[in-house]
Amino acid sequence: MVFSVEDMNETFLDIYRSNFLPRTYCFLEDPLEEWIETYSFEKHHPELVDSLKNIFIKAKISSIFSDPLSYDEDQIRRNVQELSQNHFQFLASKRLRTGTIIPYYTAVEHPRLPGWVLKPCGSKIPESSFIFGPANSINDMAYFHPHDGLFRIPMKERIRRIAQIENIPIKLPQKFYARIPFCNKQNSQENYFVIAEKMEVLSIQQTYESIRSMSTAQQTLLAYRLGRLIQLSGFLDASMSNIRLTPEGAIAIIDTEPAGFLKERGDLPRFFWSAYGHQGTLEKSGRIGLHLLRDQFCDKGVVTSSGKAVALPGFESFKEMLDSMIDQDTSLKPTFKSKVLSVLSFGVFPLIWLIHSLFVFLALRFLTDQYSKIQQKHLKRAPVYQLLSHTEKKEKEKKYKKRLNLVLRLIHYFQKDIPKLKIEHKSSSVARGAVC
Ligand SMILES: Nc1ncnc2c1ncn2[C@@H]1O[C@H](COP(=O)(O)OP(=O)(O)OP(=O)(O)O)[C@@H](O)[C@H]1O
Ligand SMILES: [Mg+2]
Repeated sequence: MVFSVEDMNETFLDIYRSNFLPRTYCFLEDPLEEWIETYSFEKHHPELVDSLKNIFIKAKISSIFSDPLSYDEDQIRRNVQELSQNHFQFLASKRLRTGTIIPYYTAVEHPRLPGWVLKPCGSKIPESSFIFGPANSINDMAYFHPHDGLFRIPMKERIRRIAQIENIPIKLPQKFYARIPFCNKQNSQENYFVIAEKMEVLSIQQTYESIRSMSTAQQTLLAYRLGRLIQLSGFLDASMSNIRLTPEGAIAIIDTEPAGFLKERGDLPRFFWSAYGHQGTLEKSGRIGLHLLRDQFCDKGVVTSSGKAVALPGFESFKEMLDSMIDQDTSLKPTFKSKVLSVLSFGVFPLIWLIHSLFVFLALRFLTDQYSKIQQKHLKRAPVYQLLSHTEKKEKEKKYKKRLNLVLRLIHYFQKDIPKLKIEHKSSSVARGAVC
C-alpha cells in the first residue's frame, strides 16, 4: 500500500483524543560516538581489519557505503553494478517503480569476509522528496531518522534487554561498527557502517511453514512473545524479512533498524518543520510493528462481514493472538495522568487541548488543501513544461518538489501523533519508504 496524504483523514475527535494518549520518547543512554567506540569492529576483530580494507579498493565503493541511500533508479543500478563488479553479493532486493525487482545494497556480503553481512548506514531521507516509513491502517506513520542505520546496534541492545526482562528467548546477531576506508566525512558518524554476524536462519518461506506446522498453543505463545517484544521495545519493522526462526525453532531478529524511534539526547532540531524523523514514540512504533506483524498473516483482500481481515490458512491462532493484543492495546486509551490533570485542573487542561486541537485541525485542513492545489497546478502546467528545455524542466520539477516537501513536512509536524479512532480495515498496513 502506498501511503498518500489523502489517507490522512483524521477527524477533530481523533486530534482531540490524541492529547490524552501516552507518548514515550526514547533516547540513547550514551552518545552515538560512545556506541561506535564500544562496538568497534576493529577492536573486537583486529584479525579481520586487513580483509575489510581490501574490500574497499575503490573510492567509489566507500562513497556507496557512506552517501545517503539513492532513490534514483539509474543511480541504484549503477551502484549495484559497481558493487557486483567488485564481487559483492546482495542479500536485499528493491522493487522499482516499474515493478521490476533488482538486487539492493542495504545488506551485502563479500567472499573476503565470509560469515559477515555488511550494512551501509547512509541516510534514508532524500533531500528532494518526502518519504513515509512503515505505517498502519489507523494512520500511525513512521518517519526515518538520518541515523537509523547506525541505531541498529542500540536498538538491538534494547530488544535484548527487554527480551531478558520478559523472559522471551531470542537470538540476535553480533553487530559492530566498521570504519569505511578512505572516507572522511565531516560528520564523523557518517564514516561508519554496520557489520553483522551472518546467522543461520530459515528463509521467509520456511519460517512461515514452520509456524504453520505448530500446534495452536505454540502459535499463540509465539505470537504473544513477538507481540509483547514489539510493543515493549518499539521494534516497528516487524516484517518476516527481519524476524525469522532458526532451524532449532528459536526466534531470530536479524535486522534491528528503527525508523525515527530512537534518538540522541539534545538531537531535536531547532525548527519544527525540520523535525522530520525525530518524533517517533514507543507507543506509535509498537502499534506499527504489531499491525505489520499481524497483517503478514492475513489473507489480503479477504474480509469477514464485520470488515475484519481473515487469517491465512493454518495461521488462525497466531493471527487471533495478535488481533487480541491489538484490540487490548492500552496505548490507545487515555493515560491516568491525563485524566487526573483534567479533573484537578477543573477542565482547564481539556479546554486548552480543545483549542489546540481546533488549531491543529484547521492547520491540517489548510495544508492538505495546499498540497492538492500545488499538485493540481503542476499537473495543469505539465503540457507546457514539455516544451521547455531539459534544464528548465529540471528546474521547474525541483521547485515543485521543494514546495511540496515543505507542505508535507508541516503536515507531518501536525499529524505525527494522531492515530485514528475508527479502524479502517485495509488489505495491508505496510508503506515502506513510499515516496511522495
Ligand atoms: N545477520 C544476518 N544473518 C543472516 N541473514 C541476514 C542477516 N542480515 C541480513 N540478512 C539477510 O539479508 C536480507 C536483507 O537484510 P536487511 O533486512 O538487513 O536489509 P533491508 O534492506 O532492511 O531489507 P528489508 O527492507 O527487506 O528488511 C534479510 O532479509 C536476510 O535474508
Ligand atoms: Mg530489513
